[in-house]
Amino acid sequence: MPSPYSAARRFTVAFTFAPASDRLPLTELTIARPDDWHVHLRDGAALPHTCADVARCFARAIVMPNLNPPVVTVAHAAAYRERILTAMHRLSLRFEPLMTLYLTDATTAAEIQLAASADFVHAVKLYPAGATTNSSAGVARLERIFPALAAMEAADLPLLIHGEVTDQDIDIFDRERVFIDRHLAPMIQRFPRLRIVLEHITTREAVAFVRSAGERVAATITAHHLLLNRNDMLAGGIRPHYYCLPIVKRRAHQQALLEAATSGHPRFFLGTDSAPHRTGNKETRCGCAGVYTAHAAIELYAEVFEAAGALHRLEDFAARFGADFYRLPHANGRITLRRQRWQVAERLPLGDDFLTPLRAGETVAWQVVAAHA
Ligand code: DOR
Ligand code: ZN
Repeated sequence: MPSPYSAARRFTVAFTFAPASDRLPLTELTIARPDDWHVHLRDGAALPHTCADVARCFARAIVMPNLNPPVVTVAHAAAYRERILTAMHRLSLRFEPLMTLYLTDATTAAEIQLAASADFVHAVKLYPAGATTNSSAGVARLERIFPALAAMEAADLPLLIHGEVTDQDIDIFDRERVFIDRHLAPMIQRFPRLRIVLEHITTREAVAFVRSAGERVAATITAHHLLLNRNDMLAGGIRPHYYCLPIVKRRAHQQALLEAATSGHPRFFLGTDSAPHRTGNKETRCGCAGVYTAHAAIELYAEVFEAAGALHRLEDFAARFGADFYRLPHANGRITLRRQRWQVAERLPLGDDFLTPLRAGETVAWQVVAAHA
């Protein structure tokens, strides 16, 4: 039987769109080199592995500062950046790490001004204390960071938010929605020019908030929140490798994210939140939050966009909208994805241990076959 793809069509977003009459599936897709606007690289022996996966296809990545201890000063960020660059130099790989600082109750306006004047720091991250991995040094009382937020607003340095309340009385599935009502809505009133990225959104309320908040509020959307809902995680057995924060929600929320990501709206863009944890720390009595997707990130988004009939919108979502929001030039280069199924390894190295990536032992429908700087 002939392959359904035997009449191969090549597809370059820049100049070819599928004619309505031609229903053959695309076999190849070339897009501008994408960026990842939210990734966890960790440190030390993990860096060669996480960096290699990012460099595979992304030109730049916003590097999360939730190390232990966290990246709270510009000096820490500079040293961390050097470690990342050294790891990549040893591997002869390249991507540009865009560094961030970790807000604490003690972050000073002076440190923010220093960050704004450092060309390698691109944003500051707010973790509510206790909200997620390595967030215990995060912000306990939002009022305490108002001077830092005012300095960020004055310097036009974006604020990245893990948008969940930590109140134990609030149901874990409601924590994002409550954060938006209680904290984010008042914050955008108090700081009317502060640019904000609501990270890894998971709810229809977050989508609606970003749509209504105007030019200065954007959101990243992960591949795993587009691919999964809470049934995937919990029905018929519990799947610890789907556990992340904010937790995946019910299907209606997943649907709202799918619509936002594939809508062509410029304030929704790619941020994988790829977060490596040792397999033993996830398959345990109290497992860590985080899904690892860097090994197949753009491919997983391609699957999602294809299923939504929106492959022609992948390039803007992955390679343009984020850079525009961060006021950076679009990256140089292109990548080519081919529709060819490949099997993800059961485990991937992580320092001297291993992690279980998304789709471990299963297949992914697209594969990056070329990346040009
Ligand atoms: O699932 C998550 N993992 N969510 C976060 O916010 C942090 C991340 C991590 O660092 O592991
Ligand atoms: Zn994250």
